[in-house]
Amino acid sequence: MTSPDLPSELKAALDGRLRGFSRNDAAGRSASISKTYRDGGGSGGIRSEADALAYALARMPATYAAVTASLNALVEIRPDFTPKSLLDAGAGPGTATWAAAEAFPSLQEFALLDANDALRALALGLVAESFRLRDVSYERGEARAALAKADAADLVVASYMIGEIGDAERRALAELMWQKSRDTLLVVEPGTPAGYARIIALREQLIAMGAHVVAPCPHDGKCPLAKPDWCHFSQRLQRSRAHKQVKGAELPFEDERFSYVVLTRAPVGARPSRVLAQPVVSKVEITAKLCTPEGVALTKVPRRAKTDYASARRWRWGDAVIEQS
Ligand SMILES: C[S@@+](CC[C@H](N)C(=O)[O-])C[C@H]1O[C@@H](n2cnc3c(N)ncnc32)[C@H](O)[C@@H]1O
Repeated sequence: MTSPDLPSELKAALDGRLRGFSRNDAAGRSASISKTYRDGGGSGGIRSEADALAYALARMPATYAAVTASLNALVEIRPDFTPKSLLDAGAGPGTATWAAAEAFPSLQEFALLDANDALRALALGLVAESFRLRDVSYERGEARAALAKADAADLVVASYMIGEIGDAERRALAELMWQKSRDTLLVVEPGTPAGYARIIALREQLIAMGAHVVAPCPHDGKCPLAKPDWCHFSQRLQRSRAHKQVKGAELPFEDERFSYVVLTRAPVGARPSRVLAQPVVSKVEITAKLCTPEGVALTKVPRRAKTDYASARRWRWGDAVIEQS
């Protein structure tokens, strides 16, 4: 499994960019970018090199961790998947590209696209010293136009991107991303009810076009969760000193909530159930909320079932699990 923390090469590249910039200034910029997001805006306010760097310092560790957790879920179910080419739509500072490069040593071609000049320039600066990524191609342009021109890739990723696009446009974009996915498409969104709603709509749209779910769902049917519940996961990541300073945070870690779906062209065999919340461990039993091929189940594993109990103790929110008899 790939670590959720930024690879040292990327950390060093970010630190290198930070030299000559004031961390207080970066903190101010990052606070205003975060406020724009909270108010329902997007990354349009990221215009300068300093804005792009502030965004990357504050958010790249968390979006990287969420993409990595999603790719780990894919690898766990399809350990034989060895993509050669990647297409990163709405790549921003290149987060998903770095995560995919770590998760898949087989990747050789990396194509990124985004409309934001400042984020694109930062991404190219960050990969400049990387042996593996320095030759990426990065198209500047609106996603639909840029995607239409792009070559199909074995793996297509859209990380924290589809929320910045209107509903009608999003449907067209989803279809285009699917067309460009030779094998697999991963879409990651914030783990909010709205982020989940976008994931579930895209999932339904693409299943109707022949896609199959690899993760997190153990089935291609309708999502069994009903409002106000929603499917989301949590990934813990370490905060570096710069990360803490830019966020004005004390804790050395944070938990990123995210929703995701991995879709593929070929149907996957039997898929494991998915742990939908942190299981509750009591003296008599473990209670776990699982998404199973038959729907959502509150599974209880009694302590007296020693072997089952011991393995259920290791279950964590987001894990794929084979249910015991
Ligand atoms: C929140 S950022 C995420 C960046 C990156 N994928 C990550 O996970 O860190 C959203 C990105 O989507 C890009 N984006 C949003 N709408 C777009 C569009 N219509 N065409 C191209 N890029 C777009 C933005 O420019 C921005 O870089």
